[in-house]
Amino acid sequence: MSKQAIVINISNFKGGSGKSTTTVGVAHEVSKMGYKTLVVDFDPQADATAFLMPELNLDENMTVFEAFQAGDLKLALYNVRENLDLVASDFDLVGLQLYLNKFRGLKARASVLHALIEPLRDEYDFIFIDIPPTLSDNANNAFVASDYLVISLQTHGTSLRAAQKFLPYLAETITYFNEDLQIAGILSVIFTKGASSDARVMKQAAQQFGDAMFESTILYRERIKSWGEHGLLDEEGDRWDKDALNQYREFALELIGRINQFNSEEEVTS
Ligand SMILES: Nc1ncnc2c1ncn2[C@@H]1O[C@H](COP(=O)(O)OP(=O)(O)O)[C@@H](O)[C@H]1O
Ligand SMILES: [Mg+2]
Repeated sequence: MSKQAIVINISNFKGGSGKSTTTVGVAHEVSKMGYKTLVVDFDPQADATAFLMPELNLDENMTVFEAFQAGDLKLALYNVRENLDLVASDFDLVGLQLYLNKFRGLKARASVLHALIEPLRDEYDFIFIDIPPTLSDNANNAFVASDYLVISLQTHGTSLRAAQKFLPYLAETITYFNEDLQIAGILSVIFTKGASSDARVMKQAAQQFGDAMFESTILYRERIKSWGEHGLLDEEGDRWDKDALNQYREFALELIGRINQFNSEEEVTS
């Protein structure tokens, strides 16, 4: 039976908001549930690549940008572990903007990644695209290529204000590039340990965004910090890994539940 992957992008408009970490955590957990999963790292900062395959030498192996220019993402596809693959990125992806100048028009520039991901859909259940935290060619390409968008919201006062300003703009951008892109929901990510202001902001966010907020939240975990050094290890029996990853598992289950609901509603209405 041929598969049709669901393509998901976790977006935000502010660096350091846990986007790459969440993408990798969720991808890892869905792959453990038995879903065939691919992470496409489309950020020149290459954090998702560092979290998943810190040992990969991209001076000797092909990068996502080289594969993108050659028209076949499989050239930069690496197996991480069972059910989990990675299209790896490196700093050379900063060349994307210049490279895309050969395409005429915003929509043509933004549609290249989509065309390269389509042939991979048959081979996966889930494809996650990680992008830099700015509205850019990288983000626009991810919007066109994706079926679902998750917005990660860091819960402190300034980011809630930023979100209120940014969301209408984001909605306009994604409607322009991809009318079929669904916002699966807003995920709150809390980094500060025990800050009471977070609870207050979470409450405000819940009032403001209502059902769009996921019930799961991602909390600060010391263990997650080490993914930047050694990669995501998930040692059997290590309770700190288990504790850190459990929250991505909870979120993954909620996300899959929502996607199933969107799909069944579509079937009913169409
Ligand atoms: N739940 C978490 N607990 C602790 N540290 C985290 C958590 N999520 C992310 N981080 C750390 O925060 C920093 C920024 O996260 P990252 O995922 O790279 O953000 P972004 O992709 O939005 O720029 C990284 O150093 C990462 O290790
Ligand atoms: Mg990132």
